[in-house]
Amino acid sequence: MKSFEITGLSTAQAHNYLLHAIAPRPIALVSTVDKEGKVNLSPFSFYNLFSTNPPVCIFSPSRRVRDNTIKHTLENVQEVAECVINIVDHNIVYKVNQASAEYPKGVNEFKEAGLTELASLHIRPPRVAESPVQLECIVKQIISLGDGPGAGNLVLAEIKTIHFKDGLLDENGKPIQRNFDHVARLGGDWYCRVTSESLFELPKPVNEPLNR
Ligand SMILES: Cc1cc2nc3c(=O)[nH]c(=O)nc-3n(C[C@H](O)[C@H](O)[C@H](O)COP(=O)(O)O)c2cc1C
Repeated sequence: MKSFEITGLSTAQAHNYLLHAIAPRPIALVSTVDKEGKVNLSPFSFYNLFSTNPPVCIFSPSRRVRDNTIKHTLENVQEVAECVINIVDHNIVYKVNQASAEYPKGVNEFKEAGLTELASLHIRPPRVAESPVQLECIVKQIISLGDGPGAGNLVLAEIKTIHFKDGLLDENGKPIQRNFDHVARLGGDWYCRVTSESLFELPKPVNEPLNR
């Protein structure tokens, strides 16, 4: 076994080890606007659902390890506290990757990646029409985890509206997991896809009395 104290690793090494180990991670494709209404679209895999009442997702636009610069998405949610979290499936993952390129501020990654803007019902950032599930969110809080390279910025986004594409819910409104075709991020350039072959069900254990 090889063991490492984090203090003995460079930030880039720690980043690389942790991203391979803590995987797969879901991907939030986040649309935001700046105070002038200019649209931005970027993916984030430091992301998950943390509460259902209130329903809160957190994603983290980090300071770049390379040069400690911050991301346009973070600047935008500081200016306009709204975002759409667009769920990523295999159909759009190549375009999502393109949207992660470092474009100058003000460039609309919808256009660069070939994705379609769809107006949100209640907030200014548009949804991604091709995304299977779109979550309209209000940003409640932003927590900075530091000011050095690699430091995360936790964006706490409260979900207000959920949009499902046709074919994801059955006639009783129940989600059909097989139809979501999710993809997730791992280390380096690795991704994985949730296919029928990789899915399995594991029923919850039957409750037993604790005082056996
Ligand atoms: C699948 C994927 C996941 C990513 N996850 C993150 C992440 O969690 N945090 C982060 O800071 N950057 C992440 N990135 C990189 C950003 O998307 C990239 O830095 C982007 O240029 C930021 O755009 P912005 O400056 O317009 O916000 C990820 C890239 C990809 C392709």
